[in-house]
Amino acid sequence: MSKEEAILQIDDKKYKLPLVRGVENECGIDIRNLRAQTGCVTFDSGFANTGACESTITYIDGEKGILRYRGIPIEELAKHSRFIEVAYLLIWGELPTATQLAHFSELLTDNATLHENLKSHFEGFPWSAHPMAMLSAMINALGCYHPDLGEPECHEELMAVAARIISKVRTIAAFSYKMSRGEPFIYPSPTRRYVSNLLHMMFSVPHQEYDAIPEVSRALDMVFMLHADHEQNCSTSTVRMVASAGANLFSSVSAGVCALWGHLHGGANMEVIRMLERIHKGGTSIKACVEMAKDKKGDFRLMGFGHRVYKNYDPRARLLKQACDNLFAKIDYEDPLLDIARELEDAALNDPYFAERNLYPNVDFYSGIILRSIRIPTNMFTVLFAIGRLPGWIAHWREVNEDQSTRIARPRQIYTGYNERAYVPIEKRGLE
Ligand code: CMC
Repeated sequence: MSKEEAILQIDDKKYKLPLVRGVENECGIDIRNLRAQTGCVTFDSGFANTGACESTITYIDGEKGILRYRGIPIEELAKHSRFIEVAYLLIWGELPTATQLAHFSELLTDNATLHENLKSHFEGFPWSAHPMAMLSAMINALGCYHPDLGEPECHEELMAVAARIISKVRTIAAFSYKMSRGEPFIYPSPTRRYVSNLLHMMFSVPHQEYDAIPEVSRALDMVFMLHADHEQNCSTSTVRMVASAGANLFSSVSAGVCALWGHLHGGANMEVIRMLERIHKGGTSIKACVEMAKDKKGDFRLMGFGHRVYKNYDPRARLLKQACDNLFAKIDYEDPLLDIARELEDAALNDPYFAERNLYPNVDFYSGIILRSIRIPTNMFTVLFAIGRLPGWIAHWREVNEDQSTRIARPRQIYTGYNERAYVPIEKRGLE
């Protein structure tokens, strides 16, 4: 087969650049030698056209609305799998056998408690601290308690550290919620499964144990599963970038939490609910939101709409919308925000502005409505997104570390500042 190449012409010189093909026939132009060959770099703000790595973890076809973890369609996983199994699949590349899954679950149970000294870290935060700030700080602090595990060298060590982080992050999340309410911490229970244990730690109080009904646990499990990975999104790219510098797993994941917090990324799930609540309370209307989102003079965006990669309906949003309907029917629950969300979606999808730009609901549009129905407060939404995304971050951290071709991530820039100029002594700089 002849080698595939792209030809680049700069002035009157032509350069041959090899093409790289993925297994789904995605095509990239390999520019690794571009600067050496031509003296030029590429310019791609937001990296919308940049393939930063080769990866075997997740496949997305944004035009067709396809999402697969390790080759398995998200719809099949949503139907048959659970979050913990998906975590295993993402990190180790294959679905676990019954024995492997039992071993992983056991490790999660064994590692659920936090070192007692870590609890005192929570006391250093003001009560009003955002749980995402606490989560990021606590994950880094966690690393101090396991310095030996930050850079696992074999499968067993990675298994141990992955289980620790996945399990303890759930405890940290629950404790930060308890902190914000001024309630005593509730310790993890060794007999509960992953999601039911989180809900127990969040909602039990010393005089009353909280037992989530299976439908509620299943819905939250589904939320986690659908968030578990999404290839090179902002937080995962952050984890990869930090990892590329040789940083340990705890620090890399902690950086991912910070990126996820942003309102254009994971923080969007909180903003969606705030927007729907404002409409519900009469502070604005569906029509006004759609009009504001179209107005290029303002910076308002329809939260939970649009995606860098999906130019079609986000398959996760479709599954979450269904999950919302199923859960509400089973628990006999109604939420006026769900009706508003449906109407807002209709209004946007029927508006030429959104149609022309292929803007559809994304994962954040319906997730918050499910979380509300199970009493999760709005400021915890992004924390739950982080719990869901952890397996993906760990899988990517592993990939960066095992890929022999990894180099420290260090983009170039096009400098647009001053040309060289002289230093001006302070007495000659004027009075203002
Ligand atoms: N409301 C109104 N206009 C929008 C929206 C929106 N939500 N999203 C994109 N657009 C417009 C944008 O103004 C631009 O218009 P024009 O071509 O006239 O300049 C066009 O659509 C293309 O948008 P873009 O800004 O180039 O898209 P991007 O790939 O840089 O940004 C995004 C993607 C997700 C940040 C953006 O769609 C957005 O801000 N959405 C709202 C926030 C949100 O829901 N974020 C969650 C994303 S999914 C989960 C996650 O990543 O955590």
